Amino acid sequence: MIRKCLFPAAGYGTRFLPATKAMPKEMLPIVNKPLIEYAVEEARDAGLQHMAIVTGRGKRALEDHFDISYELEHQIRGTAKEEFLAGTRELIDTCTFSYTRQVEMKGLGHAILSGRPLIGEEPFAVVLADDLCLNLAGDGVLTQMIQLYKKHRCSIVAIQEVPHDQTHKYGVIAGEQIADGLYRVNNMVEKPAPQDAPSNLAIIGRYILTPDIFDLIADTEPGKGGEIQITDALMKQARNGGVLAYKFEGLRFDCGGAEGYIEATNFCYENLYKGR
Ligand code: UTP
Repeated sequence: MIRKCLFPAAGYGTRFLPATKAMPKEMLPIVNKPLIEYAVEEARDAGLQHMAIVTGRGKRALEDHFDISYELEHQIRGTAKEEFLAGTRELIDTCTFSYTRQVEMKGLGHAILSGRPLIGEEPFAVVLADDLCLNLAGDGVLTQMIQLYKKHRCSIVAIQEVPHDQTHKYGVIAGEQIADGLYRVNNMVEKPAPQDAPSNLAIIGRYILTPDIFDLIADTEPGKGGEIQITDALMKQARNGGVLAYKFEGLRFDCGGAEGYIEATNFCYENLYKGR
């Protein structure tokens, strides 16, 4: 079964400069909680216990966040503020965290390959923390995907319908619908112009990957933007019928840019934070 979740978090986060100059994008708070903590919570809620984080230069705050802060805890012990740290502390106590560095930022595919020593030869989940996914009405997106994996035992990407003029921001799939909201992928294009997009079904930052993906990435040449693209490696799996695309239940906020970040902040303030 799936035990590990990989969080590629080595990107430069240029859309959020200057905030991301010395701080990882994944530490940006949505109200009072950093993006990476929402992501780890989603993985933990899906039953995953081993969190593998791919970091890069200037990303040490990520490691510090998932470590005990004795002095701080001592300072607030017995006060009402203790509960503000309780959720983080629970993650630290119930999950393991391991880290590796992507030394050169050669793209998402390359970041996932950098995580191979932490994952080994087993199926795993991938979460891009800057895509904040919330499903207040039911199971989280990763939980939904793991249930599907149990049935189909192949790679699965989460997809969302996007406006046709936005396809150039995503990997876009085409496929044969095999169930409600579920497609067997037969084509995948990275960041196509609207006229070249095979559909408006865009891949968002949640994946279940089978471990053969590592060799496929290692054999993948740099693609769009000179980066090693995970979509190019996934397309090789898809040729053997080995990739499903799943239209998930819930909301997704692109927190890598200001607009989605503000939307997520307003949503979380209204629905999760206010009145707690
Ligand atoms: P993005 O496309 O959002 O790139 O990466 P970015 O560098 O983080 O942000 P911008 O576009 O410059 O503002 C998608 C995900 O892949 C990770 C990022 O950390 C992000 O979670 N990534 C990307 C890596 O870990 N390494 C890379 O070389 C590229």
